[in-house]
Amino acid sequence: MTHTAATRPTLPPCSHVPRPYTGPSRQEVLAIRRQFANPGIFTIYREPLMLVEGHRQYLFDETGRRYLDLFAGIATVACGHGHPVVAQRVAAQIELLGHTSTIYLHPLMGEFARRLAAKMPPGLDVTYFVNSGSEANDLAVLMARLATGNHDVIALRNGYHGGSPAAMALTSHHTWKYPAQLNTGVHHAMNPDPYRSPFRGTPEEIASQSAADIRELVRFSTPGRIAAFIAESYQGVGGVTHGAPNYLREAFAIAREYGGLCIADEVQPGFGRTGDHYWGFENFGVVPDIVTMAKGIGNGFPLSAVTTRREIAQKLTERSHINTFGGNPLAMTAGLAVLDVIDQERLQENARVVGARLRAGLEELATHHRLIGDVRGRGLMLGVELVRDRGTKEPAREETVELLEQLRELGVLVGKGGLFGNVLRIKPPLCITAADVDFALAALEHALERVGG
Ligand SMILES: Cc1ncc(COP(=O)(O)O)c(C=O)c1O
Repeated sequence: MTHTAATRPTLPPCSHVPRPYTGPSRQEVLAIRRQFANPGIFTIYREPLMLVEGHRQYLFDETGRRYLDLFAGIATVACGHGHPVVAQRVAAQIELLGHTSTIYLHPLMGEFARRLAAKMPPGLDVTYFVNSGSEANDLAVLMARLATGNHDVIALRNGYHGGSPAAMALTSHHTWKYPAQLNTGVHHAMNPDPYRSPFRGTPEEIASQSAADIRELVRFSTPGRIAAFIAESYQGVGGVTHGAPNYLREAFAIAREYGGLCIADEVQPGFGRTGDHYWGFENFGVVPDIVTMAKGIGNGFPLSAVTTRREIAQKLTERSHINTFGGNPLAMTAGLAVLDVIDQERLQENARVVGARLRAGLEELATHHRLIGDVRGRGLMLGVELVRDRGTKEPAREETVELLEQLRELGVLVGKGGLFGNVLRIKPPLCITAADVDFALAALEHALERVGG
């Protein structure tokens, strides 16, 4: 596929007409936010983008301008914006009953847990619902510590697991960690991604050496027994990095040798995003002991979950534990609708087919744009690492910022990640089409030429 960058690419047609926007101006919204929102809340783009309406894979700003959304609210809007099935069912539920809490029976919580169990490997069949990925990871680590009687946890360098106390300790980017850590006992093992690994050899050899680092960490940094090993099968915030197929198998085996439970953080790759499988870990032939989920599970509804085996979950009964909104009928309705839509609209299959087309196009772009140092990922979870020099791999930070600006100007929204902020993160709603992919590739080529890459 060759894309001519000379003519400005145009978005594929869309019949959806956005409603006229009648709210406060972008400048007013910005001013109020600057005055009253916590200053830690940031926007991307030199001129912050305001989005007021969505239709499946497209977003609209306050002027009615349409964008192709390749970031899905940070890998979250799996079924597409304003999906009628999700929207109508949630609207009907809020009229009927919005909230009670798990101290009373309601049919939907058990039902959603049952439906999730059916998607999991056998044995992973009890679920605790919470509200965010961070909370899910906090709870997973708590359960692993209780179930094993051990405290230490091994996480991966370059990983992101959230911003709450335990999750921030698991996170491994100094940019996302404050010097106020309360959670102890977390150690970060070498990352198996071959692109920036200090180890040498084939990707499989690098994976084995990285897995062996877990043993060294256990020996040197822990009492010799661990509570858990946690990893994202495809690191999201880290820039879609992942190890060779043997990595997770070897890592899980070593962690289990030292008593650790294996936690798969499926917050980004789960729910069909990687195409070939429903869960990211399935691409690596491993079965975790605990799975954490968020983002795509609710298509934007604040919902997350921790699924594990009964004997691990049982430990929570030794004290009282409650999460006020966990299992809320609205969240359960959204989650059940998402499961139905992914299956009925064959979105996992779409992620596989359309994702392969996108990846092939990105690889083709890499053959004649030297700024592209690496293309990686699977299905609709793809990363493009930008470097100034393919030999030194100097991160092309400023160029990445500029590329995001240019893409926005062309009508394409992508994310940015990696420790150096030099990776394009492409994680669109799973309903994007081949025409969207071809447009996105043409726009990226156009943008690359504009930034001289
Ligand atoms: C892999 C992963 N785990 C956990 C989290 C934390 O999720 P939340 O922001 O919902 O707390 C994120 C958020 O980006 C994530 O990408």
